[in-house]
Amino acid sequence: MIHLKDKFKNIATPFYYYDMDLLAKTLDIVKAESSKYGFNVHYAVKANYDDKIMQTIAAHGFGADCVSGGEVAKSLEMGFKHQDIVFAGVGKSDAEINTALDADIFSFNCESLEELSVINELAALKGKVANVALRLNPDVDPQTHAYITTGKAENKFGIPFHEVDTFVEMLPTLTNIKFIGIHFHIGSQITNLSVFKELCERVETFVKWFEERGIRVESINLGGGLGIDYQNPDVNPIAPFADYFKIIADNLKVAEGRSIHFELGRSVVGQCGTLVSRVLFNKTTAAGTQYAIIDGSMTELLRPALYSAYHEVANISSTDTNSTYHIAGGVCESTDLFAKDISLPATKRGDFIVIRSAGAYGSAMASTYNLRPLPCSVYSDTIDNL
Ligand code: LLP
Repeated sequence: MIHLKDKFKNIATPFYYYDMDLLAKTLDIVKAESSKYGFNVHYAVKANYDDKIMQTIAAHGFGADCVSGGEVAKSLEMGFKHQDIVFAGVGKSDAEINTALDADIFSFNCESLEELSVINELAALKGKVANVALRLNPDVDPQTHAYITTGKAENKFGIPFHEVDTFVEMLPTLTNIKFIGIHFHIGSQITNLSVFKELCERVETFVKWFEERGIRVESINLGGGLGIDYQNPDVNPIAPFADYFKIIADNLKVAEGRSIHFELGRSVVGQCGTLVSRVLFNKTTAAGTQYAIIDGSMTELLRPALYSAYHEVANISSTDTNSTYHIAGGVCESTDLFAKDISLPATKRGDFIVIRSAGAYGSAMASTYNLRPLPCSVYSDTIDNL
């Protein structure tokens, strides 16, 4: 990224820099690899809802995966087709359900039996029939951070399998719902792909269970979760999509005749985004720890503070001899720390510090805590016009 420092020099920091070539390349690869098997990919809007990022993804023909009425409305505005939108979430409000009903989306991914009844009632009031997929909790351990695990029995997500009998009893009374299939999402930043094999095995059992009861499962949605290489963003800028889709194609034997859906977020946008900041001050504590305090903070990128997440940090301005640093933001929280004891070229005020792999769940989780402004976006294809 060193070559970018001249381009950055007149831009106020902190800001998100998006490599639009990398995004386009990633999207092309996702399309090529998923099309081999006829899979449908919905972009998980929650990962990054920047206008230009969303418009680019929509223009590549992806569907959208939403978790709020706001995301449904924004997806439509950014060019995603209504018939390619799926809507998940354990806490959909009546207003949000109505937004999605009005938009005639592809599917509500329904997370409780009570929610089913409410969608049915609200659809009836509009004289509509809503497509619904049941989000089932498959109790599969995704072997990732506990905070981003969603498919284990103790998680709040999805309908536990013991309630599915009740669903089957309810189904004939739900006249304003069309059951189209089943949905899963077991967690995020999954790097052990064998976990997806286990998911496929569970999905097979569920599909058979429904079919034995004469209920047709037309669509299977496997959610998202494919991880990226936070340690080596330059070596592996693109997630292993070929292996990922192949493992599903090889293991999902029930796939024939059904539409198969994915909801990918992090793997699509994670590597194209970088948080760019400048060093404000250097200081050394009484304990001898050297801090470089930067103008980027947990309000622009919360992941390190919230999940102790690793992001590669680099000084792209200095070529001095290395020294050991804690890299911290200026927010009044001790967890506002991007890196501990990392070796960086000696930093001075004004140096650019970049925090890599921040395209997913970076700007999307930004806040105005401490009344800090939300970060701006800068794009590789328009940076020369700034
Ligand atoms: N589908 C559903 C139902 C989801 O809940 C999620 C993510 C996705 C798809 C997309 O998953 P992905 O492909 O991005 O792994 N803020 C956390 C991640 C939270 C993920 C929430 N759900 C982080 O920064 O790591």
